[in-house]
Amino acid sequence: MITGNESKPLVKNLVGDNAKKIIEKDGKYIATTTKALPAVVKEARGIVFEDEDGNIFFDFTSGVGVVNTGHSHPAVVEAIKRQAEKFLHFAGTDFYYDVQAELAKKLTEITPGDFEKKVYFGNSGAEAVEAAIKMARWSTKRKFLIAFIGAFHGRTMGALALTASKPVHKQRFFPWMPGVIHVPYPNPYRNPFGIDGYEEPDELVKATIDYINYAFRHYVPSDEVAAIFVEAIQGEGGYIVPPKNFLKELKKVAEEHGILLVDDEIQAGMGRTGKMWAIEHFNVVPHVVTTAKAMASGIPISACIYPASNDFGVKGAHSTTFGGNPVACAASLATLDILQNGLIENAAKQGEYMSKRLKEMEENYEIVGDARGIGLMQATEIVKSKESKEIYPKARDEIINRAFKKGLLLLGCGESAIRYIPPLVINSEQMENAMNLLEEAIKEVNNEMMP
Ligand SMILES: Cc1ncc(COP(=O)(O)O)c(C=O)c1O
Repeated sequence: MITGNESKPLVKNLVGDNAKKIIEKDGKYIATTTKALPAVVKEARGIVFEDEDGNIFFDFTSGVGVVNTGHSHPAVVEAIKRQAEKFLHFAGTDFYYDVQAELAKKLTEITPGDFEKKVYFGNSGAEAVEAAIKMARWSTKRKFLIAFIGAFHGRTMGALALTASKPVHKQRFFPWMPGVIHVPYPNPYRNPFGIDGYEEPDELVKATIDYINYAFRHYVPSDEVAAIFVEAIQGEGGYIVPPKNFLKELKKVAEEHGILLVDDEIQAGMGRTGKMWAIEHFNVVPHVVTTAKAMASGIPISACIYPASNDFGVKGAHSTTFGGNPVACAASLATLDILQNGLIENAAKQGEYMSKRLKEMEENYEIVGDARGIGLMQATEIVKSKESKEIYPKARDEIINRAFKKGLLLLGCGESAIRYIPPLVINSEQMENAMNLLEEAIKEVNNEMMP
């Protein structure tokens, strides 16, 4: 049985007979989603999982940014058990129970900003985003929304309208919700302005903000814009860290025009970057925060935290049956407690080492065009050459495959990047060994596939 403290993966029988059977059954009965690798999990602890054929892996995906406290953290499991024995559901939308009110109170306290807030509970990231859209439109009586190219905010029709990271998300689904205007995100590595954002971050911020003002002058009535949706660090779009001043300047634009700034922390939040919220790295207080994924260590729940003065105030304007489920709330309170008692610091510490190793790989291998990120939210962009910066998704996928064969589970993001998001419980030995395996995979592909 695995403990989560294993220092190395061990692969003996990759995609064995047991895995094959489950993959076949899944393929027959489950809707096509975004399956990436034939990893069939039997049991998982901390950063480690064992598959159905006895292979041991390191999980550097955290269930796509969900299990920040590690797989099946004992304190979370205990909180779930305790609440499950009391009651599983009682419609917190229509009636009352303390664990929901307590979590809401806690969320208002830990989100940035010293103003009165309220919390809407949903069940997925997309639902938190839908809630933010409805709250913004309801409370401002404005219709338009601004979002960024490269953004990912979910796949339901409102959230999908904000999403702009891959055409496949939108293909054949039009019409989604109308009223969204997309503007460029200040990606320092590649942006439509042709600015080197690492060398000239202020220039890039200025170009981005000028673009928004240009839109206001020509085709977006700024006094009809309800909200600007932004990821403090773009996630699915490629783990892109904007220049230091960007969010501050964006907040200024929002305030100037009476627009709500919605900070989507669904992927970047909950301690992943070495602070509770990614936006804290930029010293900006957004009006609204959306969170989901890591909120309850794997039990579905999401939240939109917004100024109390923007509350719906009318019964029935927005609600959902499972919102604020008591078991999920209990898991979330336990999760926050674990994060605040050492895990966020560990994310910062391990992130520093990971960043050093990824930067070294950027220096040493032509195929690694860019290494970026904060804390345990990092990525490398794979390119055909450093000079051309031409994307190389085939090589990216090959690195991910090779790493999988060595026992390191990774996921791509953006057009040609690999993300590194282990659970925050990772220890130094596990991190060093994981980086060594990754480097082997990158070196092999660099040597074999460079054009
Ligand atoms: C920043 C961000 N917002 C929203 C979502 C949507 O969350 P969900 O898949 O839970 O609907 C995601 C999912 O990856 C995300 O990364």
